[in-house]
Amino acid sequence: MRMYDIIHKKRLGLELTNEEIEFFVKGYTDGSIPDYQAAAFAMAVVFVGMTDRETAALTLAMAHSGDMIDLSCLGDLSVDKHSTGGVGDKTTLIVAPTVAALGAKVAKMSGRGLGHTGGTVDKLESIEGYKTSLSEEDFLGQVKKIGIAVIGQTGNLAPCDKKLYALRDVTATVDSIPLITSSIMSKKIAAGSHSIVLDIKTGSGAFMKTPEDAEVLGRKMIDIGKSCGRNVAALITDMNVPLGHAVGNALEVKEAISVLRGETKGDLREVCEALASSMVCLALGKDLEESKKLVKDAIDSGLAYAKFREWIGAQGGNVAWCENPDLFPRAKVEYDAVASESGFIGGMNAEKIGSASVLLGAGRVSKEDKIDMSAGIVLVKKKGEYVEKGDVVAKLYTSDEKRLPDAEKMFFDAITYSDTEPQKGTLIYKTLH
Ligand code: URA
Repeated sequence: MRMYDIIHKKRLGLELTNEEIEFFVKGYTDGSIPDYQAAAFAMAVVFVGMTDRETAALTLAMAHSGDMIDLSCLGDLSVDKHSTGGVGDKTTLIVAPTVAALGAKVAKMSGRGLGHTGGTVDKLESIEGYKTSLSEEDFLGQVKKIGIAVIGQTGNLAPCDKKLYALRDVTATVDSIPLITSSIMSKKIAAGSHSIVLDIKTGSGAFMKTPEDAEVLGRKMIDIGKSCGRNVAALITDMNVPLGHAVGNALEVKEAISVLRGETKGDLREVCEALASSMVCLALGKDLEESKKLVKDAIDSGLAYAKFREWIGAQGGNVAWCENPDLFPRAKVEYDAVASESGFIGGMNAEKIGSASVLLGAGRVSKEDKIDMSAGIVLVKKKGEYVEKGDVVAKLYTSDEKRLPDAEKMFFDAITYSDTEPQKGTLIYKTLH
């Protein structure tokens, strides 16, 4: 078999056999197929797509390209959650301890920030002492003992996806439904949880720009997960504007803590309650209404916040910071971004706000960049609110003053004003089973 023929066949729009797909995955993982052939293959898939059978074969081959985590010791209680990537998306920090407090088992491997979107592992590293890497024994031991552990993806989990994703990121081949499906589901299947809730983001800050595309992606991911014997549900949620008010690592952890303490309501809490309820439904076999009530009570009673502190402490994090978030280091520079005109905020492009936060130092421009944990943006006003010229729209935080002008420009490129009050957008479009 030759990779050249596989690329050519795909380019012609023909359906590949499972053997051809497995040949590609094996060869790309062991290095015998070079990046340029993998890039050509990915581009052919972007243009001509893949059938459901091909997508399933690619997913399974990538899942089996490295370690398969065995969570059978947790019975059917293990549950995972995956977001397709967003701005200000700190939901894992809230939903994971909430469902663990209710008896589900969260053995989670999370990712780092990518492009304009943030990653849970980076956020957790903003807590002094938090260990994002544990041995398999300690990881599983912690989940058995307290119901939750969250670490970074281990080196050998779906290594083919790891290489392919990095390649797609720099070859304009990310936004393809079969490639996203296989990328996410290969990792979720290899990571072992019995139940999986997918948060499929749609809108300006998401890879799927329309709810219709998000639904197609969600249905394919559910089908593949179910064909592997997993319980899967997907929520389609909005990413036209950032979720919550904070964008940037330590800032987002602080906002998550305020939700867990019951101090912050609004869009972030609403999405977290919906995701956590879905996880409780799947993992604990409760019906949706009961799950919603359990989740709400777990937050309101402080049970979820107590589990959060237990989890952070168990992984070496400084619990005092979680009890008094003022202890998180503050950025050297705090800058008020003020409205240049009066009016309603008509739009807040999430992708541009994510990019502005990266420019402030909260994300990486190249793989080697070190993140400034205290950098980012806090939105003082959100879409739909009225501002007078000169009112503070957002606070920008950075440790490097030179970063401010470009970041401020990018931030204001994201904002549009309107004379009339904009319609309230949809937050949760659909739940798919
Ligand atoms: N997240 C992933 O892990 N993979 C994709 O392809 C897109 C988002």
